[in-house]
Amino acid sequence: MLAALIYSYGSADVLELHTEVKIPEPAEDEVLVRVKAASVNPADWKIRRGDLKFISGIHFPKILGFDLAGEVVGIGSEVSRLRVGDKVFGELDSFSQGSYAQFTVVKEHLLAHMPANLSFEQCAAVPLAGVSALQGLYAANLVGEQRVLVLGGAGGVGTFVVQLAKAFSCEVTASAGPGNQIFLKELGANFTFDYTCQTVRDLDGTYDIIFDTVGKEEFAHCQPLLSKKGRFVTTLPQWANAGSHLLSPFRRQKSKVLLLRQRLKDLQFLKKLLEKDTIHPVIDRVYPLEEIREAHLYSENGHVRGKIVISIS
Ligand SMILES: NC(=O)c1ccc[n+]([C@@H]2O[C@H](COP(=O)([O-])OP(=O)(O)OC[C@H]3O[C@@H](n4cnc5c(N)ncnc54)[C@H](OP(=O)(O)O)[C@@H]3O)[C@@H](O)[C@H]2O)c1
Repeated sequence: MLAALIYSYGSADVLELHTEVKIPEPAEDEVLVRVKAASVNPADWKIRRGDLKFISGIHFPKILGFDLAGEVVGIGSEVSRLRVGDKVFGELDSFSQGSYAQFTVVKEHLLAHMPANLSFEQCAAVPLAGVSALQGLYAANLVGEQRVLVLGGAGGVGTFVVQLAKAFSCEVTASAGPGNQIFLKELGANFTFDYTCQTVRDLDGTYDIIFDTVGKEEFAHCQPLLSKKGRFVTTLPQWANAGSHLLSPFRRQKSKVLLLRQRLKDLQFLKKLLEKDTIHPVIDRVYPLEEIREAHLYSENGHVRGKIVISIS
């Protein structure tokens, strides 16, 4: 099969395309998926660079890629929910057998049936970013009709946070660069601000939830904007916030780091919203697997609007 492999950590140049890679065999609780589309998450290139080697390990080669959409073509002996021919999407939990390949094996419990109204490419854009947004909002005690501030509303996670918060009838303020102000409004944000000329210290609102997808804002600067029991959730831990996170259990205003967990029920919840068109994946660019290096470079640039999808023929 065709797959993009890495044999060492490094720049995008370590991604190598090989056509003679052995198709993996599913274990008892796994299915073999013909991957139709994957997507790029910042975690992919952080692993590729070796930033997360304490969890991704030192064994090579590795096939990267967490998100996938595709078709089940084989099942293990203990698989009971999925069948050959099912169209599925989900997020892998492997650091070495990823979705940048024509086939991969996945634990059955990580996959949901695809929403019928979406393409493989659209579905591949959802799992990691969409579930992160949902779990972050849950961690921030989303109940609905709250005031939500999204720092970084235009990226993979941010586009889902904005839409999910709106789906819960929240009033949403979101930040992005100058080129994404109108886009954020079209996505549903009530108010936007341009981080190149304003910071949170220029805001005078009060927010029940501050969802940070950028990792550049200190909790101390956000705290004055939080309501009495407001919650700050970030996808990116930083040293400056370590004390706030540690003290969080003893404070009414909470400060948390999102730790994404693969939970099928969250993916299935998103599937329902996708089917009702309540939310939709935003796709910035689609690259063929053959251009995986270009896709990584574009993602590393830090200005993706929504998601980058990898199409696999
Ligand atoms: N902890 C977890 O479990 C977890 C889960 C998911 C993701 N993450 C991490 O969360 C981060 C975000 O993920 P992602 O997939 O959303 O990344 P992404 O799609 O690459 O984010 C790109 C977006 O960030 C925006 N941006 C850049 N600098 C900004 C700033 N100073 N203020 C506001 N917006 C800014 C850009 O908007 P402009 O183009 O307008 O600048 C762009 O739309 C990544 O570092 C990822 O690794 C962690």
